[in-house]
Amino acid sequence: VQFFQRSEALKGKKVLVTAGGTMERIDPVRYLTNDSSGKMGFAIAAAARELGAKVTIVAARTFAQPPADVELVQVESAEQMLDEVLSRFTETDIVVKAAAVADYRPAAAFGEKLKKTGGTLVLELEKTPDILETLGRRKTGQFLIGFAAETSNLEHYAMDKLRRKNCDLIVGNNVSQEGAGFHGDTNIVQIFDAEGEVASWPILSKREVAEQLMMLAAERLPGAKG
Ligand code: CTP
Ligand code: CA
Repeated sequence: VQFFQRSEALKGKKVLVTAGGTMERIDPVRYLTNDSSGKMGFAIAAAARELGAKVTIVAARTFAQPPADVELVQVESAEQMLDEVLSRFTETDIVVKAAAVADYRPAAAFGEKLKKTGGTLVLELEKTPDILETLGRRKTGQFLIGFAAETSNLEHYAMDKLRRKNCDLIVGNNVSQEGAGFHGDTNIVQIFDAEGEVASWPILSKREVAEQLMMLAAERLPGAKG
């Protein structure tokens, strides 16, 4: 039950959303990236704005139009995303980590364009920093929402990530399902908190998922009535 106006559910709150796929540079003209479109993150930012929040998006590579009336910070790599998120973390009330952060990046940065040589090329990769895990360790009351994109055992992996990264909520989606995943305009999600599943929604537009998710977060913020 909501005792507040929808347009005021997040009034006075600062929401930071990460969106898109990070790009990890190989050489001056090439990088490693992923299929993220940024649509889910942008929808969340728009929904938070409509609920009255002050919104910042830290975006890596995206293929969608960002919402109006939000601060947009453009980044490339996981490392840059970490820096931009950390520098805003203290003043933030809700962080939503919708970005698809590369897990690995080239271990060596090549200053010059790589030339073709033999028949194979071995590229050494190293782990990127885990942004959400870092926030989970440093949080001082911020409400943390993570994502878990899986192709099997959704509940198991989502709960494991929630605990490991000290999240308040985790949005799980099975990306092998029709209607869920990166490039479409719909998603099928299950939401978990530390106790287990709190919601399981049918196929919805990313916009509807975003609205419901932000209402759920608003109800769970410290001091919220409901
Ligand atoms: N995440 C992050 N920094 C990373 C990797 C992931 O902040 N270097 C965040 C994502 O933004 C997402 C959550 O962690 O909110 C889960 O991402 P996911 O890729 O599903 O989990 P991983 O921990 O990377 O595990 P794996 O890819 O092996 O399933
Ligand atoms: Ca990952």
